[in-house]
Amino acid sequence: MKIFLDTANLESIRKYNAMGIVDGITTNPSLLAKEGGDPEAIMGEIVRTVRGPVSLEVINTEFEGMISEARRLSKFGKNVVVKVPLTSEGLRAVKQLSSEEIRTNVTLVFSANQALLAAKAGASYVSPFIGRLDDIGHVGMDVIRDTVQIFKNYGYKTEVLVASVRHPLHVVDAAKIGAHVVTMPPDVLAKMISHPLTNIGLDRFLADWEKTKEIPKAKLALSK
Ligand code: G3P
Repeated sequence: MKIFLDTANLESIRKYNAMGIVDGITTNPSLLAKEGGDPEAIMGEIVRTVRGPVSLEVINTEFEGMISEARRLSKFGKNVVVKVPLTSEGLRAVKQLSSEEIRTNVTLVFSANQALLAAKAGASYVSPFIGRLDDIGHVGMDVIRDTVQIFKNYGYKTEVLVASVRHPLHVVDAAKIGAHVVTMPPDVLAKMISHPLTNIGLDRFLADWEKTKEIPKAKLALSK
């Protein structure tokens, strides 16, 4: 399963990229606004920092505007994937962009039906927002399960990109279902790395190693 970071924070991107565990990046207008810098400059730097796909979202909501924005964003680099909202205009844009070989990530997906339509339009990725569904009392992971099944049934090449991930259990559940990609905020990735027993075990190993320095030289010579 591919791991994407859902952030526009370059420091986090560089940190986890260096560990070889990040396959790509997803951004959105909210994440870029959070960084407080020039969004165009940040997008350009992310695209140059990461080799894998980087999703950059269009702001235009009408077909013509989406297309010209998508063409402009795709010039940031070969690894750009244009994020388009699941609307009627968005689906039309996905069809056009796919004919121009511009990869798309259909965002703001909240049902398996919407995901199916995105795949039919030619999306490269479809992004169901599971955390926001959980927030309103729906089981977000059900949309992932249904979408993965539907894409398998009909052989769609569109990848299921699990978005709006809130905690490490979302990642395990998505991986068990067989989702292609999970995009997560850096804090969720940090939680996946860390385990209290790893820290306790490491402290104990280091403390025991210190004890070897107290073994008398005579005893060490005997044991040779
Ligand atoms: O990037 C889209 C999605 O992952 C947003 O997540 O936490 O704002 O619901 P969230």
